[in-house]
Amino acid sequence: MDRVLTGITTTGTPHIGNYAGAIRPAVAASQAGDVESFFLIADYHSLVKGEAPEQVAQSTLEIAASWLATGLDPKSIFYRQSDVPEIMELTWILTCMTAKGLMNRAHAYKAAVAENQARANKDPDNGIAMGLFCYPILMAADILIFKANKIPVGKDQVQHVEMARDIAGRFNFRYGEILVLPEAVVGKSTAVLPGLDGRKMSKSYGNTIPLFAEEKQLRKLIMRIKTNSQEPGEPKNPDSSSLFAIYSAFADHEETEVLRTRYADGISWGEMKTVLFEYLNDHLKTAREEYRRLLAAPDHVEDVLQQGAQRARAISGPVLAKIRDAVGIKPLG
Ligand code: TRP
Repeated sequence: MDRVLTGITTTGTPHIGNYAGAIRPAVAASQAGDVESFFLIADYHSLVKGEAPEQVAQSTLEIAASWLATGLDPKSIFYRQSDVPEIMELTWILTCMTAKGLMNRAHAYKAAVAENQARANKDPDNGIAMGLFCYPILMAADILIFKANKIPVGKDQVQHVEMARDIAGRFNFRYGEILVLPEAVVGKSTAVLPGLDGRKMSKSYGNTIPLFAEEKQLRKLIMRIKTNSQEPGEPKNPDSSSLFAIYSAFADHEETEVLRTRYADGISWGEMKTVLFEYLNDHLKTAREEYRRLLAAPDHVEDVLQQGAQRARAISGPVLAKIRDAVGIKPLG
């Protein structure tokens, strides 16, 4: 049986683009039944960004509540990285046998060095913490401690999974076949949603629609989505319309085809915005209510994470014991 592991970074509040592109497919996969799925909230990774402490904790709550509210299957193992100390222990063991040269090649580190060089900074490592440099080793430990073999990631994370595979291979060569070599699974990037201004929906462009925006705000944002100047009654091209793209990321095939004919019939932009608002609002209402309920009950979310950590540690504990023994960290005599 495949063991699928997804890592979730604790940054900001998810938007409908994150939902359609990452959360929804991952949640659907967790309900599939023929896989064992692990969802890890990567809070130790978030320290690399140097956020304020309150921000770290608040993000964890919001991200955990979002995933729970959107229907994560209860049989999947959902936990917080910092609740599984075996991950940190393995991180050091792996750090001791990972080539520094391998880390020198990591895209995120190379980009930071390139930025220093572009600014003609004498020190190419200016402002770069060891956390950023060793980030791929922590991610490798996240994966390897659970012997996960399938890792769904975006394109930007493929290199990290390949590094985890390299590191696992090196470990096994030296200490015996203990670790499983993981493989990146890159989703079809079909569900990239346009944002309010027509560019890709992204936090860095400030053009997002938060997944759990309140009804009033949701309506207001949808009314701001950019359209062209075509008049009501004029036939319109659905394939160049942000409103249509967002609608079809949520609707089924039949609903999308019905809307296509309404574009041909010249639906007005105002009417289309109302159609999209009502559709999204309907679709997200139940999850939104659940999300609000969870945010107001952090103790409950904490309990859920603790239960997840217990299940996770039942697996990571014995694996780490084997690893420690293999490297010679063991009782004397
Ligand atoms: N680094 C990943 C990202 O930025 C998140 C992550 C942390 C992860 N640990 C992981 C992804 C383990 C997959 C497996 O998106």
